[in-house]
Parts: sequence; C-alpha cells; structure tokens
Amino acid sequence: MITPLIEVVACGTIGTHMSATPDANDALVFFGATGDLAFKMVFPALQELVARGLLDVPVIGVASDAWTDDQLGDRAKASLTASNVFDAAAFAKLSKLLRYVGGDYRDAATFTRLRAALGNAQRPLHYLAIPASLFGTVGAALRDSGCATNARVVVEKPFGHDLASAQALNRTLLAVFPAESIFRIDHYLGKEPVQNLLYFRFANSLFEPIWNRNFVESVQITMAEAFGVAGRGKMYEETGAIRDVVQNHLLQVVANLAMEPPASHAADALADVRTRLLQSIIPATPDDVVCGQFRGYHDEKGVAPSSRVETFAAVRLEIDSWRWAGVPFYLRAGKCLPETCTDVLVTYKAPPRAVFGEPTADLAHKNYLRFRLSPGVAIAMGVRVKTDGEEMVGRDVELVATTTEADAVSPYARLLRDAMHGDARLFASEEAVEAEWRVVDGILDGVVPTHPYEPGTWGPAEADALRPPGGWHRPA
Ligand code: BG6
Repeated sequence: MITPLIEVVACGTIGTHMSATPDANDALVFFGATGDLAFKMVFPALQELVARGLLDVPVIGVASDAWTDDQLGDRAKASLTASNVFDAAAFAKLSKLLRYVGGDYRDAATFTRLRAALGNAQRPLHYLAIPASLFGTVGAALRDSGCATNARVVVEKPFGHDLASAQALNRTLLAVFPAESIFRIDHYLGKEPVQNLLYFRFANSLFEPIWNRNFVESVQITMAEAFGVAGRGKMYEETGAIRDVVQNHLLQVVANLAMEPPASHAADALADVRTRLLQSIIPATPDDVVCGQFRGYHDEKGVAPSSRVETFAAVRLEIDSWRWAGVPFYLRAGKCLPETCTDVLVTYKAPPRAVFGEPTADLAHKNYLRFRLSPGVAIAMGVRVKTDGEEMVGRDVELVATTTEADAVSPYARLLRDAMHGDARLFASEEAVEAEWRVVDGILDGVVPTHPYEPGTWGPAEADALRPPGGWHRPA
C-alpha cells in the first residue's frame, strides 16, 4: 500500500503564447464536416477558440451531404451539447462564422463553390478530417480551384497505414503543398502534461544525472481506457490499438521522456532531437508484443464478426543509444480496461545493499517517478521512509505534486491555433512519423495472436510474458 506523503497542489492559468502573425490563415476550412471527428473534436475546439477571442475568420465546413449552413450550425450545437461544453455566447459568435459547402470531392464544382465561399480570404487553412484515401483527390482539386494557393493543410493521425503508405501520402501532399505548410496533428503533442514531461526534465537540474541506464531500471507508459470503441468500430477495424495510439501518441511520449536536450528553443532544434530519438528506437519484433481483444468487440457496429483487430497492445521497446542501452520501455494501451488513465512510470534500480537488514525484495522497484498525464496532472516520486518505532524498517510513500490547469487550452484548440499561425513546434514532422512507423511496422496486421480478455480487466493474461521488472503498473 502506497501512502501519499506530501501533496503540493498548484493551480495555474495557461495563457496563449501567440499574438497574430502577418501570414496567419484568414479562413479555416474543414473537410469531413458532417463526420465523427468533426463532431467529437473540431466543433468543441472551434467554440473554445472563439470564446478565447482567438478565432474570428470564416469557418467553412465541407462534406458530401447536401446540407445548409443552418444544418451545420445544428450539428455544431449538438456536438457541443453532447460534449457538455455548450456556451451560448461563444456559440452565437461561432454561428456567424460558420458556412457549409456540400458536394462530391471528385466534382470540380464543389471546389469552385468552396473558392466562392472563401470570398476575400487568400490564405485558408484546410483541415482534412477525412480518410487518407481521399487526400490525393481533395489535394488536387484544391490546387486546381486555386484554394491551395498560400494555404496550409492539417492532417490527422495515423498518418498513413504503415511506413510505405505514409511515404506515399507525403508525396501526395507535397505535390500540392510545400513541406512547411503541411501540419500532421498528434493531439498528444498539444497536451499540457506531455509538454510538462519535457519541461520537468530540462528545467530541473536534479533529474538529469539520474536520467539514464545507470539508474533507470525500466520505463512504463500505460494508456488505459475504461470504454470501448465508442461507436467508431468501422474506423477502429482499420487501425487497432497499435496504429490508433501506440504508433503516434505513445511514441511521442517516449520521445519527450527520452530525447536528448535540444540545443535551443527553436522549433527545428526540438524537432531534430525528437526525430533522432524516434529513429534510435529499435524496431519491434513479434517477440516484443502481446495483443488482445476485449470480449464483445465483435458486437460493435462496423466490426467484422471474425475480426482479429487488437483493442489492447503491450509492447516492449529498446532505445539504441548510449543513454538508454539495455533499459526496457514498456508501452501498453487498451480499451475496456478498469480505468481511464494515462501514466508514465520511470522505475529506478534498487539500492545496492539492504543496510538495515530488510528483505531486499522490499527495496526493489520502490524508487520511481510517476507522471499522470490524464485525468488531471500529477508528478509523484516513490520513496521508502522509516516506519515510526524502534525498528529500522520502512514503508512505501509517494511525494505527490498535482496541478489543476482549469484554464488550459485544450489540445485541439491549441494545435489548430498554432497551425493557423504557422507554428510547427507541436506537430509531427514527416521524418518523425516515418521513424514511428519503422518502430511498429514489424508488429502490425496480426503477426501475433490476438488474445481475448474480459472487459474491466487489465488485458489478456498473456501480457505477463512481457512483464516488466516489478510487474505491470496498475494506475488507480
Ligand atoms: C485518439 C484515439 O487519437 O486518442 C482514441 O483515436 C483515443 O482511440 C483518444 O480514445 C485518446 O485521447 P485522450 O486525449 O482522451 O487521451
């Protein structure tokens, strides 16, 4: 039983760091306006930007449905209500900015109408919340209609389906947009606690000397979700846990945890060390992964009755570097687990001797740093302290610091805003995305069995084959 010893609670207000830039986009176009991603992510981000006074340019939704502007407004309202974030004043302002353009993406007339709807706007941002198979068609039509001139484009993760398709997708986009105008979203990069990993490492001098193979025994990253695929069965069938979150979100967390210090705060310097770290991860093999599927997945809408798609993955990785050689990094993600919680656990080696004669097992895996990435934010340090009394025996405690960023900008809002100002610091470069695919390419598409597990458990028992020293972390 671990007892929290000290709890430091900080409350902060996160401001937006950016003022208007001269080449800021003067319109925001989002493709897939009637779809699921727009419903869940885009409308709440748009309302938040409007509420913060960070968005006052035309916002044009595009999709194939024959909708009106009012229908788009109704959809936005339904989305905000469903997410419990409806704000009447901000929504009224957002409604004034919203327009809808409907039509087939293969029909040039759709894009002629889009160009007309853009009016005087000369530098639109196009957010492609659509399947990657449509990027080529939409990109070419944007170019031919003049909508791509001086434009930026934002694309969703996963970028591609594997390394080869990511490279092909990149060529498709580069045929229309210059490299610096392509923004690959990974919303984990926009999360405050994920950025805090970096800040915490490099703004404190006491951790750097012990942030390496000489002291660290293992690292675990657990992304547990207590819910299933939440109506996204069709999309999930094409991804599975590895493509959905391991290839992108969890590897970006690894990068923040393990990268070398950047030479400066410049966007290039950070991107460079991040990419180099991702490139130094040894590609995973089937021996490094255990996959599972929760019982009942086949009953989800859009899921094939015989699907072997994984809803759980545990992966062991190693980084080929002087700093990290021999330190296992364990990544675990799953749907229908007992908690919704993302935790990073950096476990330190045990003291070399049990000076007070306690069983050595009592001292193993007891020193750690734990970063709670969600829900909430916490940094905790696991230590042993003496139990009151005459005996020199101890107990486990956590020194916990938590923070409530009540006013933090949500990741999607922040990233959309950054992209509209051409700030690429929190976006994944093509080199980084390719490096991520190299790590997982060998464990995709059912190369290992998918073991069933009961909803509400920590995945299949077979995951114990990869068991980290000290066991799997079970965030509570
Ligand atoms: C998305 C995945 O990218 O991230 C989802 O597609 C997952 O499957 C979600 O649930 C988790 O994001 P967050 O911000 O809630 O941790």
